[in-house]
Amino acid sequence: MISMPDSLSRSGDLSAIARKYPVKGLDVGTMNLVSATDIGGKELELRKIRHVFLEIDRNIFAEKVFKDQKIKYAEINSRLFALGDSAFDIAKRMNTTVKRPMKAGVMNYSENVGEIILSVMIHSLIGGAREGGEVCCYSIPSDPFDAKFNVIYHKGIIADVLSSMGYTPLAFKEAQAVVYSELAPEQFTGIGISFGGGMINVSLNLLGRNLFDFASIRGGDWIDENVAMALDLQQSRITDMKETEVDLLEPKTRVDKAMVIYFKDVFSYLLKAISKRLSLSLEKHPELEEGVTIVSAGGSVQSRGFIELFREEARHIRFPVRINDLRAGTDLLNTTAKGCFINAFTKYYLKEKNERR
Ligand SMILES: Nc1ncnc2c1ncn2[C@@H]1O[C@H](COP(=O)(O)OP(=O)(O)OP(=O)(O)O)[C@@H](O)[C@H]1O
Ligand SMILES: [Mg+2]
Repeated sequence: MISMPDSLSRSGDLSAIARKYPVKGLDVGTMNLVSATDIGGKELELRKIRHVFLEIDRNIFAEKVFKDQKIKYAEINSRLFALGDSAFDIAKRMNTTVKRPMKAGVMNYSENVGEIILSVMIHSLIGGAREGGEVCCYSIPSDPFDAKFNVIYHKGIIADVLSSMGYTPLAFKEAQAVVYSELAPEQFTGIGISFGGGMINVSLNLLGRNLFDFASIRGGDWIDENVAMALDLQQSRITDMKETEVDLLEPKTRVDKAMVIYFKDVFSYLLKAISKRLSLSLEKHPELEEGVTIVSAGGSVQSRGFIELFREEARHIRFPVRINDLRAGTDLLNTTAKGCFINAFTKYYLKEKNERR
């Protein structure tokens, strides 16, 4: 069982420990890299960069232009790459699309450029370790149950990048980070789900201990791809519409309606997978019979009507225990980074407590 500081900001004692043992949380996502750092105040410092890049032809954009316009860029083997939001802006102007080092939640780029770019981006986000061996807790997805790959390579590459920056890397499952971030009122008991771009990650915790976790590749990208195929439209256009105008509660357009069909399908697919594993956990942990709370975070939860549609689908599924609450997280894009921070921090907190005994 884990005893957890119930509020990071409330106790002076805890923030003194945080200063003594600096740690960082890092969400390594397919679409976004997000960091959470304690900088001594009441709130964590949260920073974000889009996990995309674009190779630039030197003949079109001189390096000087990059410097003058404060564009984030990297030079790798004499090739020039714009990074993050800058890459997006330039791609739009040039009517082209950005590249991503990750696909379906893990590093997936045929050239090692993707790994170097990841390393440059992480460096620009969190800098080097503030002291030798500072712990950086980073998110990893769970192994997907509906695809063949695993996350071992991905986990190792990020550990290497962080080690080279002076950190002690500590991997943490993305969905468990959601639990640590959001389920303090439930004593860290319940189901955390991260609805990301590349993957959906799920974890059931009992008092902060992971009982099971898994991932599915039917994340936001999968939905966009399938809606685009069904309606014979371009995927990037569908993503754009989903993020700006789609309404899952009152679907009016063909795109709205297709979105509802796919979201509902993903919800019932996911709930069935959870239900199966939960039944097995119940045999060993009858205390779960009191019911569970489900909390959802990640970019996809921002869709209008997302939680309402999820609740509706949950009403139609036979679940082995009562769902006490099904809610959205409080800070959807920062949840994982915060949960990683809390995990690293808690380890120090417990260490400190043990040392004082
Ligand atoms: N305003 C919005 N409305 C609806 N969906 C959105 C919105 N903004 C982003 N999304 C979707 O959220 C998803 C990205 O979420 P998130 O940033 O949590 O992913 P990630 O952590 O980078 O990916 P992963 O965890 O899969 O590696 C994408 O599918 C994106 O289209
Ligand atoms: Mg994510």
